Amino acid sequence: MDFNQPATENPADRQRVLGKSTPRIDGPLKTTGTAPYAYERHDVAEGQLVGYPLGSAIAKGRIVSMDTSEAEAAPGVQAVIRTTDMDVLGKFQMNVVPLFGGPEILHYHQAIALVVADSFEEARAATALIRVEYDEDETDGFDLAARREAALEQEGEIEQEVGDFETAFAEAAVTLDETYTTPAESHAMMEPHATIALWEGEGNLSVWTSNQMVAWNVQGLCDVFGLNKENVHVDSPFIGGGFGVKLFVRADAVLAALGSRETGRPVKVALPRPMIANNTTHRAETIQRIRIGANEDGTITAIGHDGMSETQPGGRGENCTAQTPVFYAGPNRLIVNRLVDMYLPEANAMRAPGEASGLMALEIAMDEMAEKLGMDPVEFRAINDTQVDPGDPEKAFSERHFVECLRQGAERFGWADRNQEPGSRREGMWLIGHGMAGGYRGAPSTTSAARVRLQPDGTAIVETDMTDIGTGSYTIIAQTAAEMLGLGVDKVEVRLGDSSFPVSAGSGGQWGASSSTAGTYAACVKLREEIARRLGNDDASALEFADGKVTTGDRTVPLTEIASDGEIVAEDTINFGDFREKFILATFAAHFVEVAVHVGTGETRVRRMLAVCDAGRILNPLSARSQVIGGMVMGIGAALMEELAVDTGRGFFANHDLAGYEVPVHADIHEQEVVFLDTEDATSTPLKAKGVGELGLCGIAAAVANAHYNATGVRIRDYPLTLDKVLDRLPTI
Ligand code: MOS
Repeated sequence: MDFNQPATENPADRQRVLGKSTPRIDGPLKTTGTAPYAYERHDVAEGQLVGYPLGSAIAKGRIVSMDTSEAEAAPGVQAVIRTTDMDVLGKFQMNVVPLFGGPEILHYHQAIALVVADSFEEARAATALIRVEYDEDETDGFDLAARREAALEQEGEIEQEVGDFETAFAEAAVTLDETYTTPAESHAMMEPHATIALWEGEGNLSVWTSNQMVAWNVQGLCDVFGLNKENVHVDSPFIGGGFGVKLFVRADAVLAALGSRETGRPVKVALPRPMIANNTTHRAETIQRIRIGANEDGTITAIGHDGMSETQPGGRGENCTAQTPVFYAGPNRLIVNRLVDMYLPEANAMRAPGEASGLMALEIAMDEMAEKLGMDPVEFRAINDTQVDPGDPEKAFSERHFVECLRQGAERFGWADRNQEPGSRREGMWLIGHGMAGGYRGAPSTTSAARVRLQPDGTAIVETDMTDIGTGSYTIIAQTAAEMLGLGVDKVEVRLGDSSFPVSAGSGGQWGASSSTAGTYAACVKLREEIARRLGNDDASALEFADGKVTTGDRTVPLTEIASDGEIVAEDTINFGDFREKFILATFAAHFVEVAVHVGTGETRVRRMLAVCDAGRILNPLSARSQVIGGMVMGIGAALMEELAVDTGRGFFANHDLAGYEVPVHADIHEQEVVFLDTEDATSTPLKAKGVGELGLCGIAAAVANAHYNATGVRIRDYPLTLDKVLDRLPTI
């Protein structure tokens, strides 16, 4: 199905099943521990061996020698795979650094060997017996702040240049020029990277893995091993969190495949938790200079954002300026992005890459600017709203209700009763503060296919290689098919994550929900057409599907009767047309937060959070809310605790486990409320829906930071807002 014009009224609009809060259909599997996760798929291949990886102990250089003789002689060991025994392996285009092969070391904990043994304990013990000598390179260092001055002298990449920024900024009545930093962050998903691989014959590879993008994983394995797609099978039905670190093939899959190729048996490999932060990817550290100029009335006249982040050579770093070209109005604009090459582990996508970091800076800057102007920060944002791209006014937002998010949020949160004077409201030992911020995240949708099989018993099966990374894909896909076929959700079975199914958009960039449901819709439309044909009606839209029956004219036929001769199968792909390029598709939020900061300890408690979201039609308010509150939890982490500590001398993340890398726990989370505006975006998909999975994270950390400032009167521009940054500036007890 080609989606070549804005959606008009269609069967998905009935909203009998879609749009209703629906508990996850895969929930019972998860709560009973029976959802098959990659590392526990004991049944898929017999005689599984266990591989344990070894990571490089240097960041940059090469291996001079590797002695594996002791490891090979250790109990239970079946094989030792050494990076020095092969050329550097191929690489999928989205991976920046090759995953294995050759003596060259590009980052700490790069995989350099795998021990395959009968048991996990034997493999791990033998790995410790490998002796490696390195020749370590000098580098330009691993400290972004120390390299900033030199980097500023290089030309950056101009992302947007409109009008004359420098002059307008110099002439503005009120100006702000501040620099903000965000640290490197780790995805810290619950399920580690894990794969069981079986290599058969000359090159038939099956992997049972944990990956967000099945088709990219197939392609990645082809690129790494020089295989053809028809010979690679990927299965990833359940994923215990990804947040971007499981978008592309990673070392677990490559090592497991190598181990299986060597031993002729299935091999399973999980990356040990302490190896994940440095072996895989992270969200890059950023340094962001923001300049805003405005008239006395608060109208922005000049906006400048100069963002810098780190990357392995050839990578993309963190595009922290992503939102700034279009989030607020202003006739003079200069947005620049700079990348500093560094041999830290690979920087790559982490949930809401770009906006998550960018809004952490921009939305503090907006708060500071509002204060300078003596304006309510809600009002300051509202008067600088734009309905078009400020750099290209011909290009409009398909739908943008940001101001309504701000207004509703202020009303519902009780913004009028907020603490007005920073550092002035106190409840015993606690300083109370209120803050808010805007949220913005792009809403892409991409090609997605699905197959629907109507069964003789009147139920339907949907098959697509879409993944559910904890987001609720199973459920919204079931809702879509149920709506289209007039069934209850319990009459739809959804099968995901298998590369033998039609290729979906996969899970990433908050495109998954909108794209995969649109693909399911397309397949269902095709099935409805086939059913219409069988009923002798050329016009499928004249058919009414309800309660397991289809009505044409005055004839009502049960689906069981229609499929009585055998299942009816329909498959289709949704393709998104060029007409959408005239529009900016995005999602919006307004975040409101109340914090309490202890005057004696500096401890921050986030007491109350409200997000008002504009994300098109909400397919399942229950799972969408879960996505948004999850993003808000992640935002508390980003604001108050998350930070990969760089060993700037040796070039690695020192706090590479969940003891050292702190994320919020239940005790950190108090009241969270989410409101979805009742909007539809007909430009987005036939279901008029957009993504929401990353929106919840966008802007929230700045809202916490602004509330923290409002509580304490101490402005911190370097995340996370840890105790040491505020303690000596708090009022006396
Ligand atoms: Mo998302 S960072 O594209 O998984």
